[in-house]
Formats: sequence, structure tokens, C-alpha cells
Amino acid sequence: MIPPHIVDDIMQASRIEEVIGEFVNLKRAGSNLKGLSPFTDEKTASFVVSPAKQIFKCFSTGKGGTVVSFLMEKEHYSYPEALKWLADKYAIAIPEDRPATAEELAAISERESLHIINEFAQTHFKNNLHNTDEGKKIALSYFVERGYRPEIIDKFQLGYSINKSDDFTKAGLDKGYKLEFQEKVGLSKVKDGRSFDFFRGRVMFPIHSVSGRVLGFGGRTLFTEKRIAKYFNSPESIIYNKSEILYGLHFSKGDIIKYDNCFLCEGYTDVISMYQAGIQNVVSSSGTSLTKEQIRLVKRYTKNITILYDGDAAGIKASFRGIDLILKEGMNVKVVIFPEGEDPDSYSKSVSTSELEEYIKKSTQDFISFKAGVLLEGSDNDPIKRAGLIKEIIHSVSLIPDQITRNVYMQSIATRFEINEQILSNELIKLRSNEAGKKPRSTFTTTPAYSSSNQEGPSEEDLIPLEYRDQSPAPIIDNQDEATELDLMRILVLYGPNVVHIDQLNEKGEKIKIETSVTELICHELSIDELTFSNAVCNKLHALISDSLAENKFLKTSYFKRLPDQEIVRFITEIEMNLHEISHHWITKHKIFTNTEKDKIHLACMGSIYSFKLAKVEKRIREIQKELIEKEAAMSNEALMDLLSEQVSLEQVKIIISDKLGRIIIH
Ligand code: CTP
Ligand code: MN
Repeated sequence: MIPPHIVDDIMQASRIEEVIGEFVNLKRAGSNLKGLSPFTDEKTASFVVSPAKQIFKCFSTGKGGTVVSFLMEKEHYSYPEALKWLADKYAIAIPEDRPATAEELAAISERESLHIINEFAQTHFKNNLHNTDEGKKIALSYFVERGYRPEIIDKFQLGYSINKSDDFTKAGLDKGYKLEFQEKVGLSKVKDGRSFDFFRGRVMFPIHSVSGRVLGFGGRTLFTEKRIAKYFNSPESIIYNKSEILYGLHFSKGDIIKYDNCFLCEGYTDVISMYQAGIQNVVSSSGTSLTKEQIRLVKRYTKNITILYDGDAAGIKASFRGIDLILKEGMNVKVVIFPEGEDPDSYSKSVSTSELEEYIKKSTQDFISFKAGVLLEGSDNDPIKRAGLIKEIIHSVSLIPDQITRNVYMQSIATRFEINEQILSNELIKLRSNEAGKKPRSTFTTTPAYSSSNQEGPSEEDLIPLEYRDQSPAPIIDNQDEATELDLMRILVLYGPNVVHIDQLNEKGEKIKIETSVTELICHELSIDELTFSNAVCNKLHALISDSLAENKFLKTSYFKRLPDQEIVRFITEIEMNLHEISHHWITKHKIFTNTEKDKIHLACMGSIYSFKLAKVEKRIREIQKELIEKEAAMSNEALMDLLSEQVSLEQVKIIISDKLGRIIIH
């Protein structure tokens, strides 16, 4: 449990734009920042961050909230995990931040347990590397021989797994970690009732999430026997989804944004060596062949990928596949091929940094030249081979989603191969219609959806990405009852502590003005009619607010935004996004213009209360009418009379409320 004053410190220190900036390439848009949603695959930015309000809103998925909500959504952290991440980032000490004991572990989620075990393993392997004879002699010397400098070994948290059957497994068990979890995370194996280590006698490369948590490991053997697999990789687990992780991205994302380009290599060692050589916008899809999810991960930071693969046949084949995948995601792809027998790791160590940069610069080819060069090799200008090659290149172009980009490439192919553009375009059309025939296109299934908890939809002009303004159908309020609930809660949350003056009769029956607060007024009005909210979040908020009122405390929006309950945080965010309209019903719709802010709030408040009550009354009347129609025949006379008299009195109440409302409107 993190003490509340520390939660306050963490929230105060955190800058949402900085945190989200680690995950999303944000660009300034007025007073806000905008970028591509990290929650969905989109082409136009609909993800908005408000540094002033310290909140975010994703108009594609409806997600929104504070910096904590963001981390919970994006990294699947629990509330305390998100706070710990922030505390770590902003160097705020959390008291009692000691490693969890076995009992505590049992109580927290499996996911967190796996994370803790991975963190433990990372420290354990690192310790083996630096502080054991075996580690120093075999593993550290191996790294040194490969030219890794101490600071890079540290940065990438490299380690070593002792060549003994259960060195790690035993250390974990001694620490109180469950064997079951050590197995789930792939570090231990159990066979015939005996447990042993998955990684033995291997140098260890921790694989990090974008935010820097250890999700798994790659382990390279130091044995030379051919029958031993060179690399072992952690299996998939609930925290490690290989297809969605890129090795090195945690360290390189800043430079990827800075240089607006990402170098993509094949292995762990390539990333580390390039990084050490000073080229730090580099990742690899270590342990898997490249996936579209990994490409989308890069797309958060840049639209440009340069593939750096070995010049051997396997490397070239992999790069062809990579090119097509990257083009399909609407990104730009270039290729650098290293001299025969070299990979980025070996090459970067055989030359100086400036030579490496120079080599990359002069060897970078666009994908057309690259494919042409590879395919033309040895074809001796054979016309049939040439035709096949052109088809192969057009195939890649056909995958590009954007028509204009496709046309640009088609023109360049026409010029380069001196072929009539019309012939090329026919080929392209053929390929694209084949492709379309394979899979129905789903362009129309992704209309942006607004969050259901905000009936009016976001209305602050500058927060709605331009491209959505006309496209999306106007959100319809089909539930008047819920709309009035949300309106009342909005006023309660935003203006709770505001002072209002209301007319009241004293004991003598004289009208007097008394001073009260919006919170008191609303809570009082609700309690005299024993009204509650049907919306679950409103109900929770109402309970919190009236409980604090009993202690004479007023809750501010900043208080709600710190609660662990993310439903509430999200709700408050939605409200804050519409800050400028006090109450759409009372000010905008009915064109009420009043002089002072106080009057406005008072009117908005009363209008919203009556509107809320009216909706409740009307809802109950509708229920009665329905009951009468459906069950009248089967009803006892007594029950029938009860219902009818309730209806009559509700109709009267309705008139009274409508009258009051009317007066507010005409005011
Ligand atoms: N790889 C793997 N399993 C293997 C071989 C390779 O997962 N049995 C992955 C590793 O992520 C490795 C990458 O493929 O980093 C590239 O393989 P390779 O070029 O063979 O390894 P290097 O990274 O070059 O390693 P080294 O230089 O130590 O030989
Ligand atoms: Mn290598």
C-alpha cells in the first residue's frame, strides 16, 4: 500500500505529456498534443493529451483518464504498479519498497508475480556474471572478447546463467517464489518431479517492455557443440507476447523519434553493438520472424524503417518478407545489406563509428532498387527473368495502402525499367484485385466510437480531431434518464464547493435567502426525494461525495483523479474534457444568458436537479403504464388502485417540476 501523501507527490511530479511521450510520438496541436492512438491501429491521429488538465483522451477507442489510467491501459499495470513506475521515473521514494515476501506474493496477481520473478532473475544473472568465478571467467570474458564495454553490459543488463542443473530455480525457491510461477515464466522446468533450470551456461539478454520491465530472456550458449541450440528464448507467457515485443525498443525509442527512422536488425548482438557504436535508433525482432504487430509498434514512433540484415541468402529472404510487411502497414522501407559474412554486429566492430555511418549512408537503398539488384543478379538480362522480377516488385507496391504512394513508385519503376506505365498499372490492378478477392476489405467497420459514458460526445472543439468532426454520426441520447444523471453529476463534480443562494421558508413562513453549496443543495434535493443514480459510476461518486459532506469536506476533481477506481477517473476525465459548458441543457440549449458566474451555476444547478427529477418521474410513469397494459387483467383491484393513484400523484409532481423548470428556462 502506497501512503496517500506519496500518491499525491507522485501525481504532482508526473507530467502526462512526458510519460505518454515515451509511448506515442506526440505533436503539438494548439494547447494540446496529438498522436496516433497506442490502443488501436489508426492512420489519422485521434489521441489527444492535455498537458494543462493532465489528462488524455483517445477518440478512437473512447479510453481516457490520467497518467495512471494510461499506464494501466497501455502496460496492463495494476494501480500500485502504475504508481511505482511513475515513482521510479520521477525519483520519488516509496517507503517500504522492499522485495515482496512469499506471503505478499501469494496475495498479488499472477502477472505481477511473474514480473517480480523476472526482475529477480535479471539481478541473479547479472550477479552471476560479475560476482561468481564461473561468470567472470567464462561469461564476462566472452563479452569483453566480443568488445562489449562495461557500461553497455550494464545498460542492457546482461547476465549469465550458471551451468548447473538448478542454480536459478533453487535461488528462486529459497527466496520464496512459487515453482509454479518460475515455470510459467519459463525459467524453470519440472520433469518427473524434479525441477531444473531452463537456461544453463548461457549469457543472458533480458528482453524489456517499452517501459523497461523484464518480460523474458534470450540466452546464448557458450558451448561450441553444434547440437546445442545457439539461442534459447523464454517461452510466451501472460506477460510475454513475442509477436508484440521488439528487442531494444525500450532503449531506442527516443532516438527513433529524434531521427525519424528505425534500424531493424536480426539479433540481440546486432542491437547492442550498433548501440555501442553510437547508432541508437535500433531494434531487433530477436527470437521470432518479424510480425505486423512489431511493425505497428515502431509506427508509434516513426513511419520509416531501414532493414539491416545479413547479406546471406537467409538474410535476403527475411528482408523480402520484412519489406512486404512494412509496406502493408503503410510505412516506408529501406534496406542496407552488409558485406557477405558480416552482420551489423560484426561489421560495426570492424570499423569506426564514422565509417559505419558512412557505410549505412551509402548502402541504403529503396526497396525497389534492392529487390531489383538481388533479383537481377545472374539473370543475364534474360527477358523472362526480367518480367518476373518486375512482377515481383509490383507485387510489393500493390501492398501499399495509399494510392498516391503507389503511383509514385509505379512511375519510378516505369522510368527505371523503361516500361510503359499503362502496362505496369494493369499489372498492379490485377494484383490488387486478386488481393481484394482473397479478403473482403473492411474499410467501413472502423467508424470511431465515442465513449458510452459521455452521451453528448466530446464537444470541446480543439479536442476533437478535425477528420472526425463530420464523419461521425451525432451521438444520440436515447436514454433521457441517464443523460440527466450525467448532467447533474457533472455539475456536482465541477462546481460542488461553489456557493449558491437559495430561497427558503423560515418557521414563520417567510421567504429568506440562505447560503449553501452546490454539493449540499444537490445532496439535499436527492435525499428528500430518496433519489439515487442508476448509472453505477454516478452512484459511487454520489456515495463518496455525500460521505465527505457529512464530514464537512468538499471533494475536488483532483481528488477523484487519484482514486484507484479507473472507472471513476475515466468518468471525471470525460467531464473535464467538456469543461467549458456548464450545462448544455440550461445554458446553450435554452439560450439562457445570465450576468454572473454565480447566477449561472445556481441556475445550471437547479435546472439540472429538476431535469433529473423530471426524468425519474417520467421514467416511473412509463413503467406504470407498461405494467398496466401488461398485467392489468391479472391484477387485484387493490394493486390496480395503488398503481393508478401513484400515477396520478406522479402526474401532479410532473406538473410542479415542469413548472419550476419552465420558470428557470424563461427566467
Ligand atoms: N536466434 C534464435 N534462436 C537460434 C538462433 C538465432 O532465437 N537458434 C535469434 C536470436 O535472437 C539471434 C538472432 O536470431 O540474436 C540472429 O541469429 P544469429 O545471426 O545466428 O545470431 P547472432 O545474434 O549473430 O549471435 P552471434 O553473433 O553470437 O552468433
Ligand atoms: Mn552475429
